Amino acid sequence: MAEQTFAKPIRILHSLFALAVIAQLSVGHLMTVPEVEKLAEQHTSMHLVTPAFAHESHEAPVLNAGGSVEESLGFEVHELLGLFIAGLMVIRILLAMTSLPGANWRELFPWMFADGRKQLANELSTQMSGWMKLRLAPPEDGEAVARSVHGFILIATSIMALSGTRLYFGWSTTAPQTDAVEAIAEIHETVVVILQALLALHIGAVVLHQMQGHNILAKIKP
Ligand code: HEM
Repeated sequence: MAEQTFAKPIRILHSLFALAVIAQLSVGHLMTVPEVEKLAEQHTSMHLVTPAFAHESHEAPVLNAGGSVEESLGFEVHELLGLFIAGLMVIRILLAMTSLPGANWRELFPWMFADGRKQLANELSTQMSGWMKLRLAPPEDGEAVARSVHGFILIATSIMALSGTRLYFGWSTTAPQTDAVEAIAEIHETVVVILQALLALHIGAVVLHQMQGHNILAKIKP
């Protein structure tokens, strides 16, 4: 099995992605979200509703002179960074249609093809016992599992970017959110949990590979 290499544009994009997504996840957890529902809650002065979701405010909302809830700096950064990541995602999807090394969508979704499924089954049967002991096979022994994780990361990031862009154009700071916007916000908040789990797996695997001397970072450094 040949070792996967990445073309220069993929390497550059990966650095931008990694920085932007990690910053976005941090901002997303720390920011205060402007929503009028929170104002109504504050006025009832009862604390029956627990803020269960990340998109709900951590601080009391402030009304500006125009009568809308003021946007925090964190929320504005989240919106702009989100649109930037959505732009990066569009470029990655376009690159997936090329035959640049490591770029094509066939590399990201091996489980969609008979030979990819065969390789996945082979890696699962020969490498799984090593994973249990935190020992990873060298990349030249096959990377269908790793590539599948990369594919799922890109699917989850695309859903975050699509739902976030829809929220950017639909989020109200003057009235309660519509049912459609609430539903999209819930998708956004559910998928972020999956994305974080995938990234933990991805970064954990990179650390283990590096510790075991596989030097896979050299393949993705711009
Ligand atoms: C400190 C953070 C990170 C490190 C050290 C890192 C490292 C790496 C390495 C070494 C590879 C090549 C793996 C191989 O041998 O096949 C890779 C690929 C990849 N990584 Fe990361 N990564 C990081 C963060 C991220 C983040 C935040 C994302 C998601 C937005 C991400 C998404 C991907 C994808 C999709 C690929 C495959 C290349 C592509 O198809 O674009 N990585 N990463």
